Amino acid sequence: MIDTRDNILEVAPETLAGHGLDVAAIRQDFPILEEIENGLKVAYLDNGASSLRPEPVVNSMLEYFHKFNANIHRGVYRWSEEATRRYEGAHRKVARFINAHPREVIFTRNTTEGLNLVAYSWGRTNVHQGDEIVSTVIEHHSNLVPWQILAAEKNAKLRYIPMTSDGQLDITDLDTIINEKTKLVTFSHMSNVLGTISPVEKIVKRAKEVGAVVVLDGAQSAPHMQVDVAALGCDFYAFSGHKMLGPTGIGVLWGRKELLEAMPPFLTGGDMIRDVTLARSTWNDLPWKFEAGTPSIAEGIGLGAAVDYLTNLGMDKIRQHEIELTAYALEQMVEIPDLTIYGPVDAQLRGGIISFNLGEVHPHDLATLLDREGIAVRAGHHCCQPLIELLETTATTRASFYIYNTPEEVDRLVKALYKARTVFHLA
Ligand code: ALA
Repeated sequence: MIDTRDNILEVAPETLAGHGLDVAAIRQDFPILEEIENGLKVAYLDNGASSLRPEPVVNSMLEYFHKFNANIHRGVYRWSEEATRRYEGAHRKVARFINAHPREVIFTRNTTEGLNLVAYSWGRTNVHQGDEIVSTVIEHHSNLVPWQILAAEKNAKLRYIPMTSDGQLDITDLDTIINEKTKLVTFSHMSNVLGTISPVEKIVKRAKEVGAVVVLDGAQSAPHMQVDVAALGCDFYAFSGHKMLGPTGIGVLWGRKELLEAMPPFLTGGDMIRDVTLARSTWNDLPWKFEAGTPSIAEGIGLGAAVDYLTNLGMDKIRQHEIELTAYALEQMVEIPDLTIYGPVDAQLRGGIISFNLGEVHPHDLATLLDREGIAVRAGHHCCQPLIELLETTATTRASFYIYNTPEEVDRLVKALYKARTVFHLA
């Protein structure tokens, strides 16, 4: 696999102290980080799977339960009006966060639901026999399976942008892969396995030349970098609350107004209608047309609080913190014998995600050993079986960083990996 030894980003130790973020103060907002497991504080390095939640997010949800717990859009009493105000306010906060109009911000359950919404509603209306859908070989299953089903149903062709040997999208043949038959191009903004950041501008430019719609899976990017959907030039952008300090059960699909207005509803029932007769129904305005039934109210409010928290920290500072932490980790990890690191060596080209394997040690065994050292990581195929196969392995161990992670936690990971070499008889 890729040998990252020769080309590591140099980071002076003093730059690791602050990163522009006051990490010590941030950690105060996460009391869970004070919990002791097996006599150790947990180094939580599984942020790619789900982040922790700070007190302001937890408190925003508690406030709803304690002070104005009610359904939204329905009651004329104060609790319901306050719940409605907060829930809709969260749409506005999210809209500002990604530089969009609040009407274009649909609350979903998660990224997966957002991508399925596009596949079912836009896809089934606009993709026909002989059309082509373009995805990539590095996608999460949630950005593969919906398109496989759509392509099979419509007798359309699914094509894939390949990957370079260092885990970046290989856009050499982009002009052939995306062509006059392409109706939709979908790809992850940041890979959940490799941390690779996709060349959005080039892919969007080519897609627009042929009139294709562009969908971005922002599950790993929205929590970690400044996202401006207008500047990205895509048509849909999906992400999850729980990876960005918010609760589970709430996600976002942003879509261009003219596309969303032309699309049929995805889920139907209460709240998404304007008028219903026994003969037919008409649809509510955006975004409610796509928010059928009682939504995740407390979770939506919690997501609004998470967006406030991230905005106050500054997304550029968060990205810088993660670049420095990742570079610091890579710098030490490339020195560990028998450790294979996947993805590009330059921390600027990736998010705060490092997937690796230690010799022939099974990632689950390695993750179990790391757990005993108080380090929480994910091991497995990370819902990316085709990519894992391309990496010529069956699974990886993955460390993924966020705002509260520190160089000391990276040091603990590195030390534990050296220990693993001894335990698994590699040393
Ligand atoms: N998609 C999440 C991950 O990469 C669950 O771990």
